[in-house]
Amino acid sequence: MGSLSTPRPGFASTLLPFLLLLQALAGSTSAVVISLRRRHDSAPQRRRPGFGGADQAVCDLFTGSWVKDESYPLYQALSCPVIDPQFNCQLYGRPDADYLRYRWKPAACELPRFDGVDFLTRMRGKTVMFVGDSLGRNQWQSLICMLGAAAPQGQTQFIRGDPLSTYKFLDYGVSISFYRAPYLVDIDVVQGRRVLMLNNISGNANAWTGVDVLSFNSGHWWTHKGDLQGWDYMGDGGSYYLDMDRLLAFQKGMSTWANWVDINIDWSKTKVFFQSISPTHYNPAEWNNPVSKNCFGEMAPVSGSNYSGPYPDQMPVLRGVIKAMRNPAYLIDITTLSELRKDCHPSIYSGELSPEQRANPDRSADCSHWCLPGLPDTWNQLLYTALFF
Ligand SMILES: *[C@@H]1O[C@H](CO)[C@@H](O)[C@H](O)[C@H]1NC(C)=O
Ligand SMILES: *[C@@H]1O[C@H](CO)[C@@H](O)[C@H](O)[C@H]1NC(C)=O
Repeated sequence: MGSLSTPRPGFASTLLPFLLLLQALAGSTSAVVISLRRRHDSAPQRRRPGFGGADQAVCDLFTGSWVKDESYPLYQALSCPVIDPQFNCQLYGRPDADYLRYRWKPAACELPRFDGVDFLTRMRGKTVMFVGDSLGRNQWQSLICMLGAAAPQGQTQFIRGDPLSTYKFLDYGVSISFYRAPYLVDIDVVQGRRVLMLNNISGNANAWTGVDVLSFNSGHWWTHKGDLQGWDYMGDGGSYYLDMDRLLAFQKGMSTWANWVDINIDWSKTKVFFQSISPTHYNPAEWNNPVSKNCFGEMAPVSGSNYSGPYPDQMPVLRGVIKAMRNPAYLIDITTLSELRKDCHPSIYSGELSPEQRANPDRSADCSHWCLPGLPDTWNQLLYTALFF
């Protein structure tokens, strides 16, 4: 298992405009990178991401509707080299393109348009890390594509690894990373068995210290059973369990994460976001379609602001955990706005599927991940807004 260890920059005060950081990448991506970082912009840093931004004081960014906008998408799949086959719908034959041309419109304001050069300039010398499951990976690749389209001639470097992959925009010294940790908390191997450690996160978290912008997500894997279940036992308070109520386990795991953030994050240096639960579209009754079996064939969002399907039951748990933090992470609440986007999943246009699976949309469609370009671009526009406006 590779890990990124960075000395904690406890000496980075306003007196030190430059900070030399030594990052040692161990494991599968064996490399040593020395970067000279500019720690401070000319504008004073806000204590918490987005809080105090004038716009957000009057506008709920997460309540609104999707409007047609022919100026989208922000990039083309063919010009972005990092998109996994799983998310590359156009390459795998998706015939319709309307789903690419929607903009999220909060009810009470306009989101600032994503400006990749502005993002790179403001983040000069800094690191962004997405931590979580394949939905975090989805969003990570989206951000790389959005930034790459803004700086197409720039020098870049891609270090692929597991659990850590990093894409660098070298002209700006900006790193955009993904760290795979579907449960956030550790999975230890004890006597050959995988144990989901509900109370321990320090193995994974070692890679997160010293990062400037952390965006976490977790959720789907907590519900997986059978072949998709990523552990054999759960470890909680020194005892091992074959299973337990999954919402309770989620609550314990997220509390371990929240506690880690409260103890280890210095809010003057690091901004912490949590990406809310990403919805799936396997039940067409949720959007009043009596014909389909799932998202396959959907070509337009649900209109308006409301989704008639159920709200994920992990959300109240997540909100409760975040609310109880000493310094609450900024919740990017993409759940409802994503529920409206039944049209934006790969369905059968995923490079992960065999021809046989593609011929059987009812059984094989992927209605969990999202096409790129597509919905995660809006998640990143919201991240951009929360960071800088
Ligand atoms: C937590 O994980 C770390 C790193 O794997 C390990 O060193 C430590 O012993 C663990 N702590 C507990 C209480 O299991
Ligand atoms: C739609 O949602 C809004 C805001 O959440 C709510 O005020 C309104 O009553 C809902 N409308 C319908 C028709 O459910």
